[in-house]
Amino acid sequence: MPDSRNSSLSTARDHDCGLTPQLRESAFMKACRREKTPYTPVWLMRQAGRYQAEFREIRSKVGLLELCKTPELAAQVTVHAVNQLEVDAAIIFADILLPLDAFGNGLDYVKGEGPVIARPVRTAADIDKLPRLDAREAFSYVLEAIRITRRELPANVPLIGFAGAPFTMASYLIEGGSSRNYENTKTLMYCQSESWHKLLSHIVDLSVDYLNAQADAGAQALQIFDSWVGALSVDDYMDYVFPHAKRLIAGLTPGVPVIHFGTGTACLLEAMRDAGGDVIGVDWRMNMKEARRRLGNEVAIQGNLDPVALLADRETIRRKAEGILRDMVGDPGHIFNLGHGVLPPTSVDNAKFLVDLVHRFSSGNSDTSGGGDT
Ligand code: CP3
Repeated sequence: MPDSRNSSLSTARDHDCGLTPQLRESAFMKACRREKTPYTPVWLMRQAGRYQAEFREIRSKVGLLELCKTPELAAQVTVHAVNQLEVDAAIIFADILLPLDAFGNGLDYVKGEGPVIARPVRTAADIDKLPRLDAREAFSYVLEAIRITRRELPANVPLIGFAGAPFTMASYLIEGGSSRNYENTKTLMYCQSESWHKLLSHIVDLSVDYLNAQADAGAQALQIFDSWVGALSVDDYMDYVFPHAKRLIAGLTPGVPVIHFGTGTACLLEAMRDAGGDVIGVDWRMNMKEARRRLGNEVAIQGNLDPVALLADRETIRRKAEGILRDMVGDPGHIFNLGHGVLPPTSVDNAKFLVDLVHRFSSGNSDTSGGGDT
């Protein structure tokens, strides 16, 4: 568990991305490199969000886009999640869909509906019209939020930057929002494959610059969210997505660990590993031991408690989390996380209980029965 949380910020830099010796030796960074750690590092996807009263309070005053575009507020909610949960890594508060706003497609978040894109892309002409953006200009507010967050975080807590992966980004751009069957996306992919590849190349060009800019601004690791890639068969992944995911990851600053995450990816696991990433994110549907067997020992693994387990009683949380930790015991490349993001009805106390339990159990002190009730 990270101690010395209030220790003074170290300014010694041994590398452009602000990797101080303290950060380099943190459990999270070590696990990314598959080095032995004194305990299993843990952080939670969507650890800053509506399940927190402080977040809801801020969101009652500003919209999600405005929150992302106000660096001081984005830094505040990022740091708050770390301090509240005592997790081993921070993730910058932003959203994977910000590029759609920057492209001018009209991004909005509608209560009860999720993201809505006013002007989706559906034709070759729409794709040709997408502007070429300078990531440092278009996302200067995210980069500023990273600089502020890095200054305000405990000196031993790494900060993760992120972006959406090409398939997931394309699916929002084409569908105009969330989707069940990805009809428009797949139809464009199958029937206008030249335009499809053009679109994914365009997304990758921007994402490479955006992610590298985040690393330059002070992110120690980068996560690529391919949340909806599980909609594809492995053959379609190889034909339509793999080359783009591979080019994206190959373009990232060497030495900055990359977490490659997707959900519903049981049939894509090896393909995603081959596309790249130092850490492969695994959702809750897979057994971690089995995932490790299939991935081999050249990558670290992140996952994979079902986020719904955090809505259950503590005995269930304990049983399921310990099951994962037992499966991964002695595996030097395990980062504990949920299999997907924290759900809004989650209790903060249960999230804290989980983080504490992972730390205690993995450091050999397995007395996780205490801590009060939910
Ligand atoms: O703490 C963190 O993890 C950082 C914040 C973060 C957000 N979005 C803020 C957010 C991260 C990492 C994301 C990534 C993201 N955004 C993904 C990939 C991860 C995943 O969940 O699969 C995706 C697919 C999106 C797109 C997106 N943004 C959706 C589908 C929604 C609506 C879902 C919902 O819960 O309403 C959003 C909105 C969003 N982004 C929220 C947050 C905290 C909730 C909206 C709110 O605050 O009102």
